Amino acid sequence: MNNSIKSTNTVWHHATVTRERRATLNQHRSVLLWFTGLSGAGKSTLAHALEESLYQEACRTFVLDGDNVRHGLCNDLGFSDADRIENIRRIAEVSKLFIEAGVITLTAFISPFRADRQKARDLVGSENFIEIFCQCDLDICEQRDVKGLYKRARQGEIKNFTGISSPYEAPEQPELSIDTGHLPLEDCVQKILDYLHERGIHSRKT
Ligand code: ADX
Repeated sequence: MNNSIKSTNTVWHHATVTRERRATLNQHRSVLLWFTGLSGAGKSTLAHALEESLYQEACRTFVLDGDNVRHGLCNDLGFSDADRIENIRRIAEVSKLFIEAGVITLTAFISPFRADRQKARDLVGSENFIEIFCQCDLDICEQRDVKGLYKRARQGEIKNFTGISSPYEAPEQPELSIDTGHLPLEDCVQKILDYLHERGIHSRKT
């Protein structure tokens, strides 16, 4: 995939309704919460549970979820290294638009490569990027095997499966590391909420 800019002679239009004004209206900042971890680690479950709590605290939110996005925006992509890189590039660009729109954006993608997560961080700015490592050992993910994909990968039916036949590079310095292999869901959610309140992303309204 060639990522060079092809559209020349275009001029960026600056909106008068800025991200700052949206933040004032919403009464919270917009950030990107980037969940990463193995398939079955609990990224989507945690992202959606956190979103529910944030909603109850009157926050504008949206979850971009790996499986869902691969049904639409990224339905032309598979699981080769090159396709995963392009998948994450698109998600990072979409996320940038969402946070510009004032929305607390939660992404749940394996995003196995450190360099791609770093690119996403650089694209939106480190101050807007909160990397959340859903830490769960491969054997636990495999035991859970919610979608039955690990079994099929072990049988050689699915190629390039993360953790089995394709690498996962764990974050070295994530903003948050959550033990999704052992902690109950509500504790995982609470840890992230506490972090967001500490960082002043938004103040509790309830
Ligand atoms: S990523 O590597 O490009 O970030 P993404 O999060 O979008 O992956 O998609 C992962 C989901 O696709 C998994 O949760 C699983 O349901 C499904 N999947 C299908 N094939 C594979 C594969 N080869 N490796 C990992 N996940 C796969």
